[in-house]
This record gives sequence, C-alpha cells and structure tokens, in this order.
Amino acid sequence: MKTQILFVDDDTLILQGLNRMLRPMRDTWEMTFVDNGFEALAQMAKKPFDVVVSDMRMQEMSGVELLDKIKKEYPQAVRIILSGQSEKEDILKSVKSAHQYLSKPCDPGALKTTINRAVALRDLLRNGRLRRIISGMGSLPSIPSLYIEVVEQLNLPECSIRRVGETIANDLGMTAKILQLVNSAFFGIPRHVSDTTQAVSFLGLDTVKALILSIGIFSKFEQSASFHFEIEPLLRHSIKTGAIAKEMAIKENFSKHLADEAFMAGVLHDVGKLVLAANMPEQYDEILERAGTQKIPHVEAEQQVLGVTHSAVGAYLMGLWGMPNTTVETIAFHHSPMDYPADSLIPLTIVHVADGLEHYGNQSASPETPIPNIDYRYLDKLGLTERMPLWHKIGVQLNLEGKNDE
Ligand SMILES: [Fe+2]
Ligand SMILES: [Fe+2]
Repeated sequence: MKTQILFVDDDTLILQGLNRMLRPMRDTWEMTFVDNGFEALAQMAKKPFDVVVSDMRMQEMSGVELLDKIKKEYPQAVRIILSGQSEKEDILKSVKSAHQYLSKPCDPGALKTTINRAVALRDLLRNGRLRRIISGMGSLPSIPSLYIEVVEQLNLPECSIRRVGETIANDLGMTAKILQLVNSAFFGIPRHVSDTTQAVSFLGLDTVKALILSIGIFSKFEQSASFHFEIEPLLRHSIKTGAIAKEMAIKENFSKHLADEAFMAGVLHDVGKLVLAANMPEQYDEILERAGTQKIPHVEAEQQVLGVTHSAVGAYLMGLWGMPNTTVETIAFHHSPMDYPADSLIPLTIVHVADGLEHYGNQSASPETPIPNIDYRYLDKLGLTERMPLWHKIGVQLNLEGKNDE
C-alpha cells in the first residue's frame, strides 16, 4: 500500500512547488495537498494519513493548532512542521505536537529522507496500539527531584548554563528531549550535538527557559503508576552505560564524533523501558514480575506480555523524534547485535558490551569469565574477542568509580 501523505500550506505556490518536486515519488506515495487547516482535518476524517507535513504560519488555523488537533485525534500520524528561521517563537510552541521540523525553503532530499525514515520505522513496531501511544508522546517522564532542580536553577537570577546542562544530563527523559531539539533542522546547527551542556549553550538560556518553564517540554514521572518499576536505578544504569561506552570508544580510537555518539546511544539504549513503564504501568509490572518469578530475561518477558521489546519501542520513539540513524539502530539492536549487518566495531558493538558490563557491575572476576548478556559469538564474528579483557577492565573501573560517587 502506498504511504498516504498530507501536505498543508496556505501558499498555493509552495504547494504547487512541492507537488512538482515530489512527482517522482508518486509510485510509492499518495499525496494530498490542501491550503488550510480545516480542509486538512476534513481530509484526515475521510481516510487515515501516515504523515502530515504542515506549514507553520497559516491564516485562520496555524500549523501548531492543526498539529495539536491531529495529535489528539489521530496520534498515529507522523507530524512534520515546515517553518522559516524567523519563526522561532512559533516553533517553540510546536515542540509538543510536531515530531520533526524542517526549515524552509525545503530541500527535496531532506524531505524525502525524513518521510521515508519515519515510515520505515513502522517495521520496527507492528503493534498499532503501541504505535499510537508512542506517537502521542510529547515528552518522556523525568525524575521529579531533577525536574524541580532544573526549574529552580532556571529561576535563579544568576543561572548557569553548565549547571543546567549537567542536571539535565542526569536525567534520561530531559536528555532525550533536549538533544532532539538541538539537533533538529530548525536550529540549523551544522554538527551533531550529543552533550547536554553544549545543547543548552547552543539553544541559549532564554530558549531553554521558554521551553521548560512556559511550554513545559519536560514532565514528571508518577511513581504511583507502577508498583515494581523504579526510575532511579534505570537512570543510573543508563548514565553509567553511556560512560563505559564512551571510554571504550576512546580506547578504541573512535573519532570524537563517534565516541560522543556511542555515549549518547549508551545513555538512551533503554529509553524504551521508560516509555513502557510510563504508558502501560500494569503490563510493565507484569513483565517485571514474570522476569523475576520465571527467571527469564527481561526482553523475553516483554515479548510474552506485549509481543515487542523495549529495544523496538525506544528505537521507534527516538527515530520518530529524528535522532540520528546510528543512535536509533544501536537502540533497536542492543540486545540482538547479530541481527544487524556489520563486520567491524561500531557504536552498536560498544553499547551492547557496555550494557552487559554495567549490569555485571564491579565484580572483579577474571576477565576470562563470560559475562551474561554479552553475545560472544557476535564478538567472535567481528574478530573482537581479544578486546574483551581491556573492555572488562574499563567496566570494572567505571563501575567502581560510580560506587564511590554514590
Ligand atoms: Fe536493554
Ligand atoms: Fe540496559
């Protein structure tokens, strides 16, 4: 079936231009062009659209209003907003309803890639109900105390970029959202940012303040929702996995850029657990209970209860938010790296090993002792088994340092 795409712009010349530019895609895309939000909603009511690409500034109903309505009524649709650089104020308002931003004038290549990537993500997650839930998420829940700390810091007369960035870095939900924004096409930052302090500095304190204090891009995690799930241990695991991944990448002579990517993917690798715990607490409790009583791996319990794992869920949301491919793929395959076609050391390999090492903790057993959750057949295939003693040492060392900090 063709991908159904709805384009909305009140400038008919732009619509005509898009129509002409995208004509070669007609074999795979069925495109509808409308010049106002009301007509767009009328079209949405007639048939399901996979993707909506809307202009930001329109008469009568703005792009933000339109996407807000679509998010509520048709959450499964991928929502992309097109805007000019001068529309910064407006774009900030759209961060809760748009999945991705493209800047005008729109480059056909970027538009095609963005749409195709978003559509391809559906292969990761075939469960329609889950897809609807995840597509409707504007933010990821944060640890309440860290959320309050960021708000308090932003309200200080002498607010420090570094402290705000560091506090955000301690939280998974806030990290994911701030990195999504800073790396979106809208801000036009040429290189990829994977450090939260740098992100705050690029966005500027005023923008960060507006996003957090008035627009409310972050939300607090409600602990009562789930009996067994605890956000803090997940967070500690995520941050430590990121740190181990980065150290491994540095020792393996990765470029700074790739080492930063390994770090970011390490921090975000289990983001799907947070998504599941926040959105389906009862089923998530059942997963944790099953894993405990039947002594089966967590991912197996997820498969049994939901028919999908946190790897796919996390990768789906991060892909929808426009995170880089490497990050999305690393998240998707961190428990099954063999399924990803690669024949050399990549961030996925590093995160897979770092995750296992973090779970293993600082047990100083001999480096020859196999570590559960690490796929040694995969390391063999890549000819990397001999690197394990060094990686093991890094893991033990960083796990010990983590212990001292606590
Ligand atoms: Fe995981
Ligand atoms: Fe993990």
